[in-house]
Amino acid sequence: MEEASALVPKKGQPEGPEPPRRSRERFTVPNYVWQVIIVLELLYLFYPTLASLPGTNQLFPPTRQPAHCGASSSRFGRFPQPDDSFRFIPCTSTSLPPAIEDPNPDESWAKLFDPNPDHWNWGNRTSSSGSTEQNDPYAGRGIYMCGYLDVPLDYTNKSDPRIVRLAVTKFQVSVLSEHTGASSTTKKTERTIVVNPGGPGGSGTEYTWRAAEDITERLSGGRYDVLGWDPRGVNTSQPAVACFPHDADRDRWTLATQKYRAAVDSNKMQLDLMNAYNNATLRSCWERQGDLGRFVSTAFVARDVEEIRKALGEEELTGFMVSYGTGIGQTYANMFPNSVGRLILDGTELAGGFGWTSLDNVTDAWHDGFLGECLKAGPEHCALAKDVDGKSLSLLELDVWVRGVIGDLVSHPLPAYTVKSGASLVMYSEVVGAIYQSLYNPHSWKALAQMLYELGHGNTTLAGEFLEAAIWQYDPTLPCTASSKKPSSLELTLMVVCSDAYDDKDWGLEWWEEKWEIMTKLSWISGDSRFFVFACHHYTTYWPKPAEVYRGDLNHTLKNPVLLVAETYDPATPLRNGRRLLAEMADNARLIVHHGFGHSSGRDRSACTDARMKAYILDGTLPEDQETACYADEKPYLYGVKKNGGFEAGSLAAAAAGSGFDPVASWREHLRETQLMGPRI
Ligand SMILES: *[C@@H]1O[C@H](CO)[C@@H](O)[C@H](O)[C@H]1NC(C)=O
Ligand SMILES: *[C@@H]1O[C@H](CO)[C@@H](O)[C@H](O)[C@H]1NC(C)=O
Ligand SMILES: *[C@@H]1O[C@H](CO)[C@@H](O)[C@H](O)[C@H]1NC(C)=O
Ligand SMILES: *[C@@H]1O[C@H](CO)[C@@H](O)[C@H](O)[C@H]1NC(C)=O
Ligand SMILES: *[C@@H]1O[C@H](CO)[C@@H](O)[C@H](O)[C@H]1NC(C)=O
Ligand SMILES: *[C@@H]1O[C@H](CO)[C@@H](O)[C@H](O)[C@H]1NC(C)=O
Ligand SMILES: *[C@@H]1O[C@H](CO)[C@@H](O)[C@H](O)[C@H]1NC(C)=O
Repeated sequence: MEEASALVPKKGQPEGPEPPRRSRERFTVPNYVWQVIIVLELLYLFYPTLASLPGTNQLFPPTRQPAHCGASSSRFGRFPQPDDSFRFIPCTSTSLPPAIEDPNPDESWAKLFDPNPDHWNWGNRTSSSGSTEQNDPYAGRGIYMCGYLDVPLDYTNKSDPRIVRLAVTKFQVSVLSEHTGASSTTKKTERTIVVNPGGPGGSGTEYTWRAAEDITERLSGGRYDVLGWDPRGVNTSQPAVACFPHDADRDRWTLATQKYRAAVDSNKMQLDLMNAYNNATLRSCWERQGDLGRFVSTAFVARDVEEIRKALGEEELTGFMVSYGTGIGQTYANMFPNSVGRLILDGTELAGGFGWTSLDNVTDAWHDGFLGECLKAGPEHCALAKDVDGKSLSLLELDVWVRGVIGDLVSHPLPAYTVKSGASLVMYSEVVGAIYQSLYNPHSWKALAQMLYELGHGNTTLAGEFLEAAIWQYDPTLPCTASSKKPSSLELTLMVVCSDAYDDKDWGLEWWEEKWEIMTKLSWISGDSRFFVFACHHYTTYWPKPAEVYRGDLNHTLKNPVLLVAETYDPATPLRNGRRLLAEMADNARLIVHHGFGHSSGRDRSACTDARMKAYILDGTLPEDQETACYADEKPYLYGVKKNGGFEAGSLAAAAAGSGFDPVASWREHLRETQLMGPRI
C-alpha cells in the first residue's frame, strides 16, 4: 500500500521540495473534479499505525479479579442459555468464536463456558446499581458476555451456503442473578446500544471492552446494555481479511512506499512505484481471500446490523455509531427505514460521497487548536509555548517555526535510537502522519507538542519513541503463540472502501498525479494520508463487482429520526458533512453542532452534547431545532486541570494535570484510543 511507512530513508534521495508554508490552506478546486470519485470517508488515516501496541496483543483484557473469591461455581447457572441467538457466555480469556470450519461449532463453543465466576470479566460497580451487598464481590456489577452470530456470506445468493461468523461482545448492565431456573440468570435491557467505532476495520468487540461502561453511563445513565461486533472481515470475526500471512511481511512491505509528496524528488516515479505496489497488494488479497472481497461492502454490513437487531429480539435498532460507523448507520437507516429506533451518528461521513471534504478543517485544527490553544494554555501546559531563543512567539511565528522544523526533515532526516528497535530515523512523512493522527485526539496534543519542541531543539528521543509506537505491527519481543501469529485484518479497510467505490472510472495515472498534488496542497497534513484511495482502481482487476452496494437515496422516511453529531474542528468528518446529511435527511434527522476539537464528540466532551444524546437514547427526545450548538466543556492542554465537573477521570487527564507528565505513556494511550476506530489509512 502506498501509505506504508519507512523508518529508513530512500537511498541517495536528494533534497525534496519544502512543504507548503502557508499557514491556512483553503479548498479551491471545483467540486466536479472530486465528485467523480466515490469513496467512503475514511475515518482512519495512517495506515501502518494499527495494532502492535504493547499491551494490546492479548485478545482480551486481563480478568478483573474480584476482591473476594471462593464463590460457588454454579451459582449463576449455565451458558449459553437456550434460545439465545448470540450464544452468550461470560467472557474469559479464551472466549473466541469457534473456527468457521468447525463441524460442531455449538459444541465447541459450549465447552468454552467456564463455570467459575472468578474467571469472568465483571464490570465496575455501576452508579445506578444502588446499595450493594458488602460481601458479595459480584453484586452491582455488569458483566461482559461473548458470543457470535452466523450470517450469510452472500445475502444476494441463496444457493451460496457459505457463512460469515460475526464475533459479538456485550456489556450487560444488569447483574446476573442467582441460579433459580433455566433462563432466569440473564436479563437483557429493554434496548441495547449497538456500537460501531468506525474504520472501515475498527473492532467493535474491542471498542466494547474499552468503552462500553463509559458509553452506557454517558448515553443512558447506565441503563442499557452495549453490544459491539467485529464487522465482517474484521479481527475476530471470520473470515478476517488479511492479505499477508504475517504482520512482519506487511511491515516489510509498508517500509517501501510511504513517502509523502513533499518528501520525494520524482512524483511520477513515486506514483508508478505506489501503483505497482497497490496492484501487488490487491493481487495478494485476491490470492489469499478469493471472492471474499465481493462481500464486505457497507450495504452487507448494514444487513448484518439488521440480523443483529433481529437476534436481539428488539423491534427497533438503538445505536451509537461513530465515524465510518455513521456510514453504516446512514446505509442501514435507508435500507431498513422501519427498523430505525434511536440512532446516534457521531462524526458524520458522507456515504456515497468521496472523502475530500475530510480535508476541510485539518489546517484549522492545527492552527487554531494544536498551536493556538497551546499558546493560550501557556508554557506550563504546552512545551511549544516556551520562548524560542529567548523570545516569545506569536501564533504566526510559532507556526513558521514548527513547520520549519518539520520541513527540514525532508532533506535532513534525523537519526534516533530506541531501546526496543535500535537504530531509527525521524523522517518527514512519518512525523506529518503522526501529526494528522494526533489531530483526531486533543488529549494527545500535550505529548505531541513536547515531542516537536524537543525535536526542534535537536533531541530526537521522543520522536523516535513516538514513531516506533505508531508504526510497527509486528512486535518481535512477543512470544510466538499461535494467536499472535494471526495477522491483523488491516486490508479489510481497502476491501470495503474499494468495493463501495468499485465503479469509479479509471482516470489514468496523470489524473491521479494531479489529484495527489491538489490534495497535498489543500492539506499538507492529511492530503497524503487521504490519497490512499489511489489503490482502489485495481479492485476491478480482481473482483469484477461487489455483490451489492447501496447508493442512496438517503432521504427515506424513517420510523424515528436519527441524531447526527458533527464537530467544528473534526480532521476527518467536518461539519460540512453533517450539514449536507441533515439537508438530505431533513425531518428524519436532527444535528448537534459540537464546537470542539478532535474526531467525533468523545474526545473533547460537552455536557450539552452528552445531555442531548442521553435524552434521545433514554426517552427518544429530540432537540427542538434542526440544528443545535453545543460547546466543549474544557480546553485542550488543560483537561482535568480545573476540576470541571469531573466527567473524565482518565489516566491521560490525570497525568496531564499532575506534574509527572510522561509524554511516551500519554502518546501510547492516545494510540490505543485511536486504534479502536480501526486502521489509520
Ligand atoms: C481483536 O480483538 C481482540 C479482542 O477484542 C483485541 O484484543 C485485539 O486488539 C483486536 N485486534 C485488532 C487488530 O483490532
Ligand atoms: C473501573 O474502576 C477502576 C477503579 O476505580 C478504574 O480505574 C477503571 O477505569 C474503571 N473502568 C471502567 C471501564 O470504568
Ligand atoms: C450463487 O452461489 C452458487 C453456489 O456457490 C454459485 O454456483 C453461483 O455462481 C452463485 N451465483 C452468483 C450470481 O454469484
Ligand atoms: C496489475 O497487474 C496485473 C498483473 O500483472 C496486470 O495484468 C494489470 O494490467 C495491472 N493493472 C494495472 C492497472 O496496472
Ligand atoms: C471548516 O472548513 C469550512 C470549509 O472550508 C469553513 O467554512 C469553516 O469555517 C471551517 N471551520 C473552522 C472551525 O475553521
Ligand atoms: C532528550 O529528551 C529525552 C526525553 O524527553 C530526555 O530524557 C533527555 O534528557 C534529553 N536529552 C538531552 C541531551 O537533553
Ligand atoms: C429523495 O432524493 C431523491 C434524489 O435526490 C429525489 O429524487 C427524491 O424525490 C427524494 N425523495 C423525497 C421523499 O424527498
